Amino acid sequence: MKVIIRKEAHEASLWAAHYIADRIREKAARTSKPFILGLCTGSTPIETYAELIRMVKDGEISFKNVISFNMDEYVGLPKSHPESYWSFMHKYLFDHIDEPAENIHILNGNAPDLEAECAAYEKAIEATGGFDLFLGGIGEDGHIAFNEPFSSLKSRTRVVTLTEDTRIVNSRFFDNDMNQVPAQALSVGVATVTDSKEVVILAFGPKKAKAIHDAVEGPVSHMCTVSALQLHEFGTIVCDEAAASGLLPESRAYFAAVEAVENR
Ligand code: PGA
Repeated sequence: MKVIIRKEAHEASLWAAHYIADRIREKAARTSKPFILGLCTGSTPIETYAELIRMVKDGEISFKNVISFNMDEYVGLPKSHPESYWSFMHKYLFDHIDEPAENIHILNGNAPDLEAECAAYEKAIEATGGFDLFLGGIGEDGHIAFNEPFSSLKSRTRVVTLTEDTRIVNSRFFDNDMNQVPAQALSVGVATVTDSKEVVILAFGPKKAKAIHDAVEGPVSHMCTVSALQLHEFGTIVCDEAAASGLLPESRAYFAAVEAVENR
């Protein structure tokens, strides 16, 4: 695992956007096969998306040959609701880039058969040959996608029940009323994410410090599902100082040394 630490969230967001852009360009240079990208919602990726949009507008990168799958969606929230992840993704990314509409995949939390919807999503991912890169955020409880504590580290796309803590955290988008936050969601599983060739996780702010400590320095545990990244060959966590503040000084020094040597 690599941990990239930047003073401010803005710099970390730029790092992540440029990293993703490099990966997309690098694949485009060697093959005509599409780049399969996993995407997340939340306040954390917004600046990364803004920089990707800038790069598309400035002709530095194209999403024409990118196929994306989002990690989750609330159950029962109309697609047109401003807080649906469908709305979020269009507002903050898809409406501003050149990714073809047919390449965009977002779970349908209003599907008549939710289990069939989840199974079809896994099949659609499999049919692409699998993710090249999965971009994720983490919850204060260490969740990756909506894989709350005690989710199996082998889990796949399925219907999940959100913890009260997550609903309270997300109530900031729902008039601070936890009862308006859907109790269930569709979410890719931990294994759906870790099957990706590469996983990049963003975490900003002091509220993520414990989760980052648990993910990086704690045991691999279903109590902190993002800790599954420890078993991944190419996992990178990108944080600001505040989110990294729970890490041991020795760990931080090591990650900084790795970065300095590799950038030489
Ligand atoms: P946030 O959410 O980016 O809004 O903090 C991240 C998450 O819950 O995974």
